Amino acid sequence: MLPVAVLVSGSGSNLQALLDASRTDPEFGARIVVVISDRPGVAALGRSADAGVPCAVIPWGDFDDRQEFSIAVCDAAQRHGAEALLLAGFMRILSPAAIDRFPNRIINIHPALLPAFPGAHAVPAALAHGVKVSGVTVHFVDAEVDHGPIIAQRAVAVEPGDTEEMLHARIQREEHRLFPQVVKAFAAGRLRVEGRRVIWGES
Ligand code: GRF
Repeated sequence: MLPVAVLVSGSGSNLQALLDASRTDPEFGARIVVVISDRPGVAALGRSADAGVPCAVIPWGDFDDRQEFSIAVCDAAQRHGAEALLLAGFMRILSPAAIDRFPNRIINIHPALLPAFPGAHAVPAALAHGVKVSGVTVHFVDAEVDHGPIIAQRAVAVEPGDTEEMLHARIQREEHRLFPQVVKAFAAGRLRVEGRRVIWGES
């Protein structure tokens, strides 16, 4: 079992999908050893408590800079034995030194088809741009924002009359399917990184 930390900032619906997969799929291969939030009181923390998974709150505002915050996050993850970090709606950027502590072992989920619409407002940005297709990207994290090697993507059609909420809800349905699939493949050692390309091996 690969011990993983899940990093959250909000509602935690992707965390829930991962918790559900670890409970229902005997082949999932990853064990969530801690949930780490940069904000107190978010719904994701209730989900981890309901699942009996330890959580840690590391408030962003308690630190002087990104580097100190990132070190505290990595230290907490490693104290719980995590060997990889899953960013599930985590709204902070980790420092390069932190990323170096988990090389190709930090995975992020993003609600757009990267490299289009990186950043915190991907869904409204895609709508405002008038794209007909958006979607989900799961990728390894590198030192640039929403930039590392792409592991998997799913397209989601933009429908006429879509609001941000409607489109995001359909994107999230795909997220909840895709993120556990990627984590399962990662835990099984099926993902190999060659430069910017991620090669999926046999299961
Ligand atoms: C997701 O849409 C994810 O792609 C983005 O933030 C959102 C988090 O949602 N990074 P949740 O907290 O998992 O419900």
